[in-house]
Amino acid sequence: MKSVFALTICTLFSILEVVKGVTIANKSIPFTYNETNFLLHGKPVQILAGQMDPQRIPQQYWRDRLQKVRAMGLNSISSYIFWDLLEPKEGNWDFSGMNNVAQYFKIAQEEGLMVLLRPGSYICGEHTWGGFPAWLSEVPGMVVRSNNEPFLNATKSYITRLAKELKPLLVTNGGPIILVQVENEYGSYGSDKQYTSTLRDMWKEAGFDVPLYTTDGDGISYLKGGVIENVLAETDGGGGNVEGAFATRQNYLANTSSSGPFIDAEYYTTWLDLWGSPHQTTDANGAKTVMGDLDWLIKNGSSFSLYMVHGGTNFGFSAGADWSTVLTPVTSSYDYGAPLDESGQPTDLFYDIQKTIKANLPAGEKLPKMPKATTMISIANITMKPVASLFDTLPKPVIKQQPVNMESLGQSNGFTLYRTTSQMAASGMLKLSDYPRDRILVYVNGKRQGLFDSTFPLPQAVNLTVSKGDSIDLLVENMGRINYGPRIPDQRKGIVGNVTLNEKMLEHWSIYTLPLDNPSTMIKAAKSSNHSSDVPTFYQASFNLHTIGDTFLSTPGWTKGMVWVNGNNLGRYWMIGPQQQLYVPGCWLKKGTNEIIILELEQVNATTVSGITTRSWANRPNPSVPQIVSN
Ligand SMILES: *[C@@H]1O[C@H](CO)[C@@H](O)[C@H](O)[C@H]1NC(C)=O
Ligand SMILES: *[C@@H]1O[C@H](CO)[C@@H](O)[C@H](O)[C@H]1NC(C)=O
Ligand SMILES: *[C@@H]1O[C@H](CO)[C@@H](O)[C@H](O)[C@H]1NC(C)=O
Ligand SMILES: *[C@@H]1O[C@H](CO)[C@@H](O)[C@H](O)[C@H]1NC(C)=O
Ligand SMILES: *[C@@H]1O[C@H](CO)[C@@H](O)[C@H](O)[C@H]1NC(C)=O
Ligand SMILES: *[C@@H]1O[C@H](CO)[C@@H](O)[C@H](O)[C@H]1NC(C)=O
Ligand SMILES: *[C@@H]1O[C@H](CO)[C@@H](O)[C@H](O)[C@H]1NC(C)=O
Ligand SMILES: *[C@@H]1O[C@H](CO)[C@@H](O)[C@H](O)[C@H]1NC(C)=O
Ligand SMILES: *[C@@H]1O[C@H](CO)[C@@H](O)[C@H](O)[C@H]1NC(C)=O
Ligand SMILES: *[C@@H]1O[C@H](CO)[C@@H](O)[C@H](O)[C@H]1NC(C)=O
Repeated sequence: MKSVFALTICTLFSILEVVKGVTIANKSIPFTYNETNFLLHGKPVQILAGQMDPQRIPQQYWRDRLQKVRAMGLNSISSYIFWDLLEPKEGNWDFSGMNNVAQYFKIAQEEGLMVLLRPGSYICGEHTWGGFPAWLSEVPGMVVRSNNEPFLNATKSYITRLAKELKPLLVTNGGPIILVQVENEYGSYGSDKQYTSTLRDMWKEAGFDVPLYTTDGDGISYLKGGVIENVLAETDGGGGNVEGAFATRQNYLANTSSSGPFIDAEYYTTWLDLWGSPHQTTDANGAKTVMGDLDWLIKNGSSFSLYMVHGGTNFGFSAGADWSTVLTPVTSSYDYGAPLDESGQPTDLFYDIQKTIKANLPAGEKLPKMPKATTMISIANITMKPVASLFDTLPKPVIKQQPVNMESLGQSNGFTLYRTTSQMAASGMLKLSDYPRDRILVYVNGKRQGLFDSTFPLPQAVNLTVSKGDSIDLLVENMGRINYGPRIPDQRKGIVGNVTLNEKMLEHWSIYTLPLDNPSTMIKAAKSSNHSSDVPTFYQASFNLHTIGDTFLSTPGWTKGMVWVNGNNLGRYWMIGPQQQLYVPGCWLKKGTNEIIILELEQVNATTVSGITTRSWANRPNPSVPQIVSN
């Protein structure tokens, strides 16, 4: 595609011409760099990038988002690849739909964008377990993110498979991919050079013959752990003082095999949202800082990647979690306060950044036009009908003496129900030998008795009184695997360890996997419609549409659960916020009859949901956790 980079080169070439003049280097190397410049076909090129991950955007919208990124003035995108979605079961690869990453990069090239590929295998990204597939937990001897043979083998098979998809798209083969990142911010996790240099060699051996790079936090301590010999080292952050970030990196790397031109590889536009935490925004002052920083970077001849230029959505169960003193799960919305909001609409920040880039364009140069705005629609109240209790939709159980973790049952996401029958009358505390992973609703004979919730500093016990023969249910919800920090190695879910009541072991469990892949089928196969309002309940409704468009699904009065529209899992709602509505891409709706299913975990009075065109954010206390409200 000869014309692809025409605009790009022209634009940046000119920027550089103004700044430092132009020298022609070796044209036969498609993309390389010297100490101060990136060189595309021998000509200096400045990378003005924004992060946008294909697997967080419906594929029908890829081109729209990529065109908008170009229209804002960027010439590149950076993208994470989520391994777990590509290989949900060991050896079962899925490159369809939103996983068709090669197609995404092809469109990027058609739209005149270069690509910084960030394939991991660990990517963090607030994605569940930083992109690792859940089945890794079951591989004997596995220690992720380390110089560990089972891990390196699994990563190698991922790299090999990914190479099949993406090698034709490297700049060396005429494609848009100019740089490939090794690991991700490893310096804030460890410092094992044997591990990282093995990864470096793996990418090379798999044929990724473009420059490799690392990126770490802005600070010497991060660089120390993260830098790999002969791999270009970059840093993230530095908002408000990008010149300082430049200097820190420059001084540390001077004359090493990792030095080269500066990319602020994650320049934060705003920040992520966590359940139960305040919504993150950038105000006018923040926007001024962003504009100042980007202006400095452009004039300096440096490069950057905005994190995020468009965040998109952690659909389904794909959101990750952090750990502070409690679990802080990431919301389904990955709006990120980015220049393009979750629904792909330009925000004030979009126009601020566009202005900054325009101001640095040589006279006469123009940015491409914005594509037509997406239609937003509202949907009148839809009345939801309770149709089945979750407990009426259970599959065949696995019988075990002691509880076993979710992954050992071949399950990655969703809920797992552990059921046992009390062998005697007992009264006392129900306890887990290990911490709850993550939120456990406790029932006796189908009546709710309490919960464990690792997102709150609750007493990690529930008081129970049972008679002989009573049925005890523990419904365990995986709220997202931790994607950052020292808890990464063990991200098994379900119940790990054993369960005691009044210090006596509860044994002989029937364990039911509930990955909720297809709730519509579950509802159809439900054993009876005998639902008590105390247990999680599926609600269902049909609604008609004459006009298709994007909408935000509002769930007023509903407490906590998941929503599916026409079989697509939109993600979680939880009234504690800050997210208050779920993004519904118009491409998942159709003219005529549409189907909506909700799984609500709590007893609610709500009966309706609706589609709105303007979303809101709020923080509210969690009614099912009274300890928090009174604290
Ligand atoms: C890098 O290449 C550019 C363009 O050819 C040139 O202007 C610059 O002086 C080079 N920098 C170094 C340190 O060689
Ligand atoms: C340009 O790069 C090619 C490919 O690496 C190499 O064979 C050639 O010697 C280089 N030419 C110069 C003038 O450095
Ligand atoms: C890793 O892969 C190598 C080469 O295929 C194999 O010989 C070795 O047994 C594997 N090790 C593990 C722990 O799977
Ligand atoms: C790096 O190398 C250049 C050229 O050899 C030298 O002038 C400079 O002092 C060196 N910088 C450091 C920090 O060692
Ligand atoms: C970029 O900024 C750094 C740090 O202030 C400075 O050393 C360097 O010369 C600047 N580069 C250009 C091309 O202005
Ligand atoms: C139950 O868990 C405790 C704490 O991890 C452990 O010491 C004990 O061996 C376990 N008992 C059984 C029967 O697994
Ligand atoms: C359980 O009961 C004990 C003893 O009555 C009490 O101290 C404790 O606060 C109760 N715990 C919970 C979680 O209700
Ligand atoms: C339905 O619930 C009632 C009252 O809880 C119970 O008596 C009856 O056995 C249940 N029927 C079925 C089919 O589960
Ligand atoms: C539902 O309505 C009942 C009766 O009006 C009320 O007592 C209860 O608090 C309501 N529940 C919720 C979750 O709003
Ligand atoms: C829609 O439902 C909400 C409650 O969920 C109610 O407050 C509102 O009045 C309803 N709107 C219409 C137009 O019926």
